[in-house]
Amino acid sequence: MNKVPLLKALLDYHTEENLILSMPGNKCGLAFKRDEIGKIFEENLGRLDITEVDPLDNLHHPEGVIKEAQNLLRDYYKSKKAFFVVNGSTGGNLTAVFSAFKEGDEVLVERNCHRSIYNALMLRKLKVTYIEPVIIEEGSLFLPPDKNNIYNALSKANSPKGIILTYPNYFGITYNIEEIITDLKGKGLKVIIDEAHGAHFGVCEDLPRNMCELADYTVISAHKTLPALTGGAYLLVNDENSNVEFYLSTFTTTSPSYLVMASLDYARNYLQEYGKEDYESLIHNADLKREEINSLNKVRIVTKEDLPDGYDIDRTRYTIVLPKGYSGYKFLDYLRGEKIQGEMAFPSGVVLILSYSQGLDALDKVHQAVDKLDMEILKEKEWKFNYSNSLPIKALEPYEVLEAESENIGFNNSLGRIAKENIVPYPPGIPSICLGEIINEESIAAIDEFLEQGGTVLGINEGRVLVCVRGKGESN
Ligand SMILES: Cc1ncc(COP(=O)(O)O)c(C=O)c1O
Repeated sequence: MNKVPLLKALLDYHTEENLILSMPGNKCGLAFKRDEIGKIFEENLGRLDITEVDPLDNLHHPEGVIKEAQNLLRDYYKSKKAFFVVNGSTGGNLTAVFSAFKEGDEVLVERNCHRSIYNALMLRKLKVTYIEPVIIEEGSLFLPPDKNNIYNALSKANSPKGIILTYPNYFGITYNIEEIITDLKGKGLKVIIDEAHGAHFGVCEDLPRNMCELADYTVISAHKTLPALTGGAYLLVNDENSNVEFYLSTFTTTSPSYLVMASLDYARNYLQEYGKEDYESLIHNADLKREEINSLNKVRIVTKEDLPDGYDIDRTRYTIVLPKGYSGYKFLDYLRGEKIQGEMAFPSGVVLILSYSQGLDALDKVHQAVDKLDMEILKEKEWKFNYSNSLPIKALEPYEVLEAESENIGFNNSLGRIAKENIVPYPPGIPSICLGEIINEESIAAIDEFLEQGGTVLGINEGRVLVCVRGKGESN
């Protein structure tokens, strides 16, 4: 008998015939069927898996068709340079951080940025000043930082060389970032935008704009929302005095997948040829169904009107929040039972990523599932985490933490010690103590209270926490 557990699980999963409202944006191949060449691509995936044979060019030294495809990408997003990335926005973020900054530079970073950014900060040995997020609905949903938080962080920093912002955030929430980018660039800061969730931005007027023309580096996960294969991303660059090609090549396999690259070429052409029409129609349908689903008065799909002034939301995803005392994780499970695969759950809701390729039927299916939902099955204890007004003090930079030895101690004995890992209460999923920060009395009290309610805190396992052991010239 064949022993192929992963392959078997994958094949079994597909027998469930779920409606894919998660990644990938190609919706398990469906979205490639938009036109003839896409259909041929989808039907021939196995046959098209090839390597750098003549005349297929070389991603590490593009001179032929890859160069041509990347130039088309550059022209579409209106940046100075454009690159295919075969290892996701993770690869794009690592490249952007290495290219934009030198070892020892100070940067402004959101406290809840993606872990690829944290990893890049450590590897590039950068000093960080954190930007606070904005939390609404008593801790259940978080927004990108507002202008105040960004300029607050700027005023605290000594000599920042740049800023890394996530736009949109995981919920599809955006804000007026253009003015901020322009101003900060004017002040001499390099700007990296992690636009992983916004590959489709700017394709029609109902969507937020993309930042590819404005930011020094914009990193986009094409595979999350566009008809591209998993792992396919774009890196758009306007910083001309950089070694971006070197770093990208360093973080990229010498055997990049032609399937992924070809899908990236397809996705850009898709946006150009059909994007406006398809996204306008998707948004029209999504808006209609959103109203119908919201009027069932069970769950709420977040709209711009639900957000504070200055924020907007991507209307091609449903960020669905539940009333207090109901669980987003249970809701995700319920949807799966109804053969709807959601993108992710958070304590008070779920996120669904919609696609032009699935039509109104898909939205009807969500409507029907919510309509017949017995809210009782989603009941959950209510948790609230009290963020302290005073941020913990940073003792070590993230890269110093990476190199520090660690010790596992009881959380209640950790007063004054330096966290080795981020300590993150869920909800809302934002670090209350970042790695390298000193665990203080207020944080211990708030986390204790939260744990007593039964809340989950990443970074604390069975009441124990990893802290740094000082040595080698440092004091604890
Ligand atoms: C904001 C953000 N940035 C970067 C990434 C990494 O993207 P990828 O999975 O394409 O490497 C993610 C993935 O979820 C993300 O949410």
